[in-house]
Amino acid sequence: MTDRYAVIGNPVAHSKSPLIQAAFARVTAQDLVYERILAPLDGFARTVAAFAAEGGMGLNVTVPFKVQAHALARTLTERARVAGAVNTLRRDADGWLGDNTDGVGLVRDLRDNLGVALADRHILILGAGGATRGIVVPLLEARPRTLTIANRTVDKAVMLAAEFAAHGEVRAASTAALEGRRFDVVIHATSGGVRNEDRHAWPSTLFARDAFAYDLSYADVPTEFLRWAHGHGVVRSADGLGMLIEQAAESFFMWRGVRPDTRAVFGLLRPA
Ligand code: ATR
Repeated sequence: MTDRYAVIGNPVAHSKSPLIQAAFARVTAQDLVYERILAPLDGFARTVAAFAAEGGMGLNVTVPFKVQAHALARTLTERARVAGAVNTLRRDADGWLGDNTDGVGLVRDLRDNLGVALADRHILILGAGGATRGIVVPLLEARPRTLTIANRTVDKAVMLAAEFAAHGEVRAASTAALEGRRFDVVIHATSGGVRNEDRHAWPSTLFARDAFAYDLSYADVPTEFLRWAHGHGVVRSADGLGMLIEQAAESFFMWRGVRPDTRAVFGLLRPA
């Protein structure tokens, strides 16, 4: 019987994961199907249980269920435990194994695909929600000069910085505290892409010369954050499609033990 996998979220209709995973299955000649599952906002655990009962082998977890997936997993990889969020579930004999491949995906895309230097650079993350949790430790492992988390609600940035202190120095900043400071890499990790009334509260001066702007979300047209960055002199930028592809490859590897070559998939999803 063909193994079943899926992405679970709410909303999930826009997800490109099925396209990506189907392409990986093709290039690695793995026999699997990959679907989309829309879980009710109050019915994540129940939907996952139903999928397992039908023989489902693995899930990618997206907004807003990553923290719930962390709670649901019977065992966690070290990086998922540290992140406090799970984006990949694998059904093992004794229950769900939870992993988090987001951070590796981001660092691979930034450093390997886009050639962005991270070591010794000043890096800023905008936002202190679930998306930020997954990327802090992998970014610290890239040895930046400084790593700062800024958030509209500064307390959440302070809490995250404290939580990750054992892994390296993380600074917290309020929106106002960013005034006059400049960063080499600015990563947008808020959910403000959909409800961004006060996005422009970020100071427009926060980009150093030749800064790189990266948006964790992706779209067929430049995201609002990237348009804003371009409007303030940023030339080098990318949205999160590459991260999505790289985190998907890492999930695929964890399910199937085979690492797909991601290059072919880039061409498929974003023709030049
Ligand atoms: P998730 O876990 O899905 O990332 P979250 O925990 O609600 O969702 O976090 C969303 C992040 O986006 C938070 O950092 C949030 O800032 P606050 O903590 O101040 O709420 C940020 N965010 C959402 N909408 C925003 C907006 N319009 N402007 C700035 N930040 C926003």
